Amino acid sequence: MSKEQLVTIAKSNLEHAEAGTIQQTDNFHKVPASHYFDPDRWGQEMDKIFKRVPLLLATTAELPNPGDYKALDAAGTPVLISRSSDGTIQAFFNMCSHRGAQIMPVGRGNTHRFTCPYHAWTYSLEGDLTAIYANKDFGDLDKSCYNLTPLPCLERAGLIWVTLNRDSSLPIETFLSGYDALLAQFGFENWHYFASQAVEGPNWKIAYDGYMDLYHLPILHKDTFGPDYPNRANYYNWGPHQRVAGPDPRLAEFKNRPVEDWPDDALTAGVWTIFPHISIASFDGGGRSIMLSQLFPGETPGSSITIQHYLMENEPDEARAAEAKTQFEFLKYVVEQEDYATGLKQQRALESGGKDFVLFGKNEGGGHHFHHWVDLLLNAKDEDLKALFETHQKTFFTAH
Ligand code: FES
Ligand SMILES: [Fe+2]
Repeated sequence: MSKEQLVTIAKSNLEHAEAGTIQQTDNFHKVPASHYFDPDRWGQEMDKIFKRVPLLLATTAELPNPGDYKALDAAGTPVLISRSSDGTIQAFFNMCSHRGAQIMPVGRGNTHRFTCPYHAWTYSLEGDLTAIYANKDFGDLDKSCYNLTPLPCLERAGLIWVTLNRDSSLPIETFLSGYDALLAQFGFENWHYFASQAVEGPNWKIAYDGYMDLYHLPILHKDTFGPDYPNRANYYNWGPHQRVAGPDPRLAEFKNRPVEDWPDDALTAGVWTIFPHISIASFDGGGRSIMLSQLFPGETPGSSITIQHYLMENEPDEARAAEAKTQFEFLKYVVEQEDYATGLKQQRALESGGKDFVLFGKNEGGGHHFHHWVDLLLNAKDEDLKALFETHQKTFFTAH
């Protein structure tokens, strides 16, 4: 079913490529410039998006084995993700039940237990408080009331989502809108985690707009990779999530062939975004690899931090690892020195008040869709959240 959808998308894309057309929206879209710097607006985005909808916080490849864990700062919330001995994933606030210290430093590892660095209270991989240091001195209490605080989480398609609201009633599956079935075509659960690196950037939406925008490739990236890529894009949506696909002439030869003949690597090429803050750029040649970019708002409206993760379909030999390292350094250079350097100046310009709006063209449907969903979420009441995603789930795979 999901492969059929990928083939349907590829055929739609080929039709456009052969006709020399792209999807175009009916109208232009204007976003108020203040949406990129106004502190009230930014606070609402933090509360009504980042602390409310599931965020992709880890990949299966980062913590494949029982006892593996990952601690991270997710939009200001300290999170601890662990894999139990039975292989299940769970997520918690990375926060001790004693006096709230952060238990594990940011990073990954493998352990049998989590021990707080402040007074050595100890928790199991499942988050149960198992030991209180100097328990006699501290005094007796019912340990079962002092476990780590769990957060909703779901592992699907080799990716791990966590909701930073412990009381969330929005099922993560509903939020995914069927997109996970498409992502499953990559087979990420068996991929190899290679490396991560961080890049500082402008307001998270200025940064994220760039990931849905192929229009700029030959211009802004003229000195690096831009001239080799098409700058025309078609957008395919599942709820708020969208795949950005440029015309791919390699697929023409499969046009009249049955679904099973179409090659997975070419079908999954391009950019996959996962609302509100993920971009997956897929590469092939020497085995498939991806760069998964995780954008988090920084401490102010005008800053963000992007964690880039490099994953490979196959564990690399020495030569392939050296190539991957070089490619990953190149990708950091491009994002930091070209995209975000431009974005940081764009940020200052928007803050200067010289324009009331920024504009998205009829060829920039990805930006229209993304900002539409940001607005939808800012206006949605908590009780309507599930219905909002269910409604749009029914319309999945709609092309603009
Ligand atoms: S705050 Fe963790 S043991 Fe005291
Ligand atoms: Fe770019």
